[in-house]
Amino acid sequence: MFESIERVPGDAILGLIQQFKDDPNPNKVDLGVGVYRDEHGNTPILRAVKDAEKKLIDTEQTKAYIGSHGDPQYGEYILQTVLGADSKVLAANRASATQSPGGTGALRLAADFLVSQLPGKAIWLPNPTWPNHLGVFEAARLEIKRYPYVDDNDQFDFDAMLKKLKSIPKGDIVLLHACCHNPTGFDPSQDQWHQILEVVQDRELLPLVDFAYQGFGDGLDEDAYGVRLLADHLDEMVITQSCSKNFGIYRERTGCFIAIAKDEEDMQDVRSQLATTARENYSNPPAHGSAIVATIMGSAELTAAWHRELDEMRDRINDVRQKLVEGLKPHGLADKFAFITDQRGMFSYTGLTEDQVNKLRDEYSIYMVASGRANVAGLNDDNIEYVCKAIADVVGS
Ligand code: LMR
Repeated sequence: MFESIERVPGDAILGLIQQFKDDPNPNKVDLGVGVYRDEHGNTPILRAVKDAEKKLIDTEQTKAYIGSHGDPQYGEYILQTVLGADSKVLAANRASATQSPGGTGALRLAADFLVSQLPGKAIWLPNPTWPNHLGVFEAARLEIKRYPYVDDNDQFDFDAMLKKLKSIPKGDIVLLHACCHNPTGFDPSQDQWHQILEVVQDRELLPLVDFAYQGFGDGLDEDAYGVRLLADHLDEMVITQSCSKNFGIYRERTGCFIAIAKDEEDMQDVRSQLATTARENYSNPPAHGSAIVATIMGSAELTAAWHRELDEMRDRINDVRQKLVEGLKPHGLADKFAFITDQRGMFSYTGLTEDQVNKLRDEYSIYMVASGRANVAGLNDDNIEYVCKAIADVVGS
C-alpha cells in the first residue's frame, strides 16, 4: 500500500536546524530558526524557569489529565498578560482561554474552530507571513487569501495593506501579527493600528491575531497595543498566543487560544465548542510548560526575575540590530540596510535574494531562510564582522 506514497521535502525552516548541525565549518553562523540565542550562541533555560521547575518537583501532586481547556490558572494569567489586568473584556467575562500545544496548536485549534463553526469564511494572510500559517490553515481546509505587507523592495507597505483590507468581503477573517512580524520584523505603528481597527469595523471582519512574540519587540504591554486596541473596541475576535519565545520554553509546547465574544453567554457557547475541538485533536494539552508559567506568574519574585530576563533578551536583540548596521558601514552598506533598526523582534527581512542566501550558506556557512529572513539573535560579537563581510560580498558592494 505504501509504495504509492511520495516523499516530500521537509519543512524549510526546521530543515535548517539539521543542515546547520551537519556543517563542519567552525565559522558557521545560524540565523535560521526563530529561537533566541545569547551572546555565546546558546539558547539557555531562563533562570526563572529553572527555579519554577525546582519548585514544581517538590509541589506537583499529580500527573492526571488537566482537561481540554488546560490549567485554568494558566489561562487566567495568559488572559491578563495578553489583554491587560484592567481589560474591560475580562471584567465582563467575555474572554475564554484554551491552553494549547504551543502557538502552532493554538493556530490549529483556531482553524478547526473557524472551519466547523463559521463555514464559508476565507482567512486573509499577510504576504509574506510565517510559512506554517499556510501549512496549518491548508491542513484544516480553511480557504486562504492574501493581502500585501511589503513592497517590491521588501519594505513595509502599510498603504497597500490597508487598501486591500478595505476590499475584503464583509465578514471574512483577517490574520494580523500582533508584534515582531514573522518574517519581516515590520510592525504597524500605534496610529496604523487605529486605521486597521477602522477597516476591521467597517468590513465587519473577524481578526485572528497571532501573538507569538510578546515582550520581544518593545515590552510586554507595548507589544500588546494592537491586540488590546482591537479587544477594547470589537465584540468578537480570536487570539493565538505562545510562551515559546518569551519564556524560552519552546519544546514544552505552551500556548493558548483566546476567543472573545460579545457577552458571557456567547463566550460559553464558543468555549464548549473549543473543548470538543481540543478533545478531537489531542484531548488534553501537555501540562509541564503551563505549570512553569503559572508558577512564575504566581510568585512576585519569579515574575520580577522573568521580566528582567525578558528585558535582557529584548535589549540584546535591539543592540545587535544596531551593531549589524554599524558593521555594514565600512562596506558602504549602512544606508541600504538602515531599516534593520526599525524592525522589531528576532526576525529581519534583509532584502537578500534567494541566490544571495544560498551563496551565504554555500560559501560562508551562514544559514538563513530562503526568503531572506535572518534571525538576528544569532549574531554576536564573535561573528558579526564575518557576517557583515559575507553580506557585502554577496550583494557585491
Ligand atoms: C520560526 O519561524 O522560525 C519559528 O516560529 C519556529 C518555527 O516553528 O518555524
